[in-house]
Amino acid sequence: MTTGLRITGSGHYLPGPPIDNHALARVMDTSDEWIRQRTGIESRHFCPEGQGASDLALPAAQRALESAGIAPEDLDYVLFNTMTPDYLFPGSAPVLADRLGCIGVPALDLRAQCAAMIYSFQLANALIASGEAERVLVVGAEAHAGFMPWRDWDILAGERNAAPSPEDRERATRHRALAIIFGDGAGALVLERSPRPGCGILALDVHTDGRFVKKLYIPAGFRTRPFISERTVQEDTWIPSMDGRDVFRQAVTLLPQSVRRVCHKAGVTLEQVDWFIAHQANQRINDAVRERLGVPEHKVPSNIARLGNTSAATIPILVDEMRRDGRLRDGQLVCFLALGAGVHWGSVLMRI
Ligand code: ACO
Repeated sequence: MTTGLRITGSGHYLPGPPIDNHALARVMDTSDEWIRQRTGIESRHFCPEGQGASDLALPAAQRALESAGIAPEDLDYVLFNTMTPDYLFPGSAPVLADRLGCIGVPALDLRAQCAAMIYSFQLANALIASGEAERVLVVGAEAHAGFMPWRDWDILAGERNAAPSPEDRERATRHRALAIIFGDGAGALVLERSPRPGCGILALDVHTDGRFVKKLYIPAGFRTRPFISERTVQEDTWIPSMDGRDVFRQAVTLLPQSVRRVCHKAGVTLEQVDWFIAHQANQRINDAVRERLGVPEHKVPSNIARLGNTSAATIPILVDEMRRDGRLRDGQLVCFLALGAGVHWGSVLMRI
């Protein structure tokens, strides 16, 4: 029995030109070869100075509304997924809702990092099932550029032919495993109750294990007074701390288990699933998950080479790309899967 939730609209937006791996090698010790081999990433986009998650979200949301054929005032709820909000408070959802013109509509931020879309499907489904909402806008948008461990954006962009200071290069190199994986962007989905029989969420498998918070987190915050100071900069606590190997291990262990569970709950086999739309943190993670599940490569779409890890924006961007190029079609069975800092993870099985 499903609630009939359907994806009726989608859109995405990418800021600026693509930044390739060679550009990163201008500000830190890394190489195109290392990044491609260890992650599958070839380029990514970065949000320009002065823009934030809501600036990326606005065009993505407008495109999603347009493709759904509805106006902002038709929305009953706005969920904004981001780990890089415009302001520490309030969230980016009210900023976006204002700019869209949805005054009075409940709009809130959801902080489940790269797993946020899984949580948004669960919440939107519950809102629609309970009758609290008919149409929910879910946006994922990230401006990771603000935590990138370099200052010389002009050197990176090739606009200035110079070398960063030895200290700046050393800092960027210290954080290189983190810095090479993230890219900015926004994706948006309109989720609506549909009268079409059989469509909607068949099963969900959603989890959090807070014992792993410090495997990937930004140490700066309201535990210190003042919450931001010269020490924050000196000690680099504004840059995320990541145990990449452990996050990798968790993803390749927990995601296959979750996918098997969600299929079991819904009474479908892995073979019956048309698409496994996975978060894109590292191509090697998705290859390992796919191998552990024994599913063919063509069922696990990828855009990480072009975009890097766009965190909460990844799944809605990929869905929009696949809807626009005709890969996603009504009636297909789709399994969404993601793991993110928290650690939050899970999967959703949906007849679209
Ligand atoms: N360029 C060159 N060398 C590098 C780089 C780089 N960019 N990064 C690390 N190295 C070096 C290290 O210094 C180390 O060298 P050493 O052996 O001489 O000490 C070596 O490569 C191995 O380092 P690891 O960090 O163990 O490299 P690994 O193969 O694990 O790759 C990576 C790092 C890509 C981060 C990987 O661990 C990964 O993808 N982990 C998952 C991260 C992830 O998914 N994060 C997002 C979660 S979702 C969310 O919520 C945001």
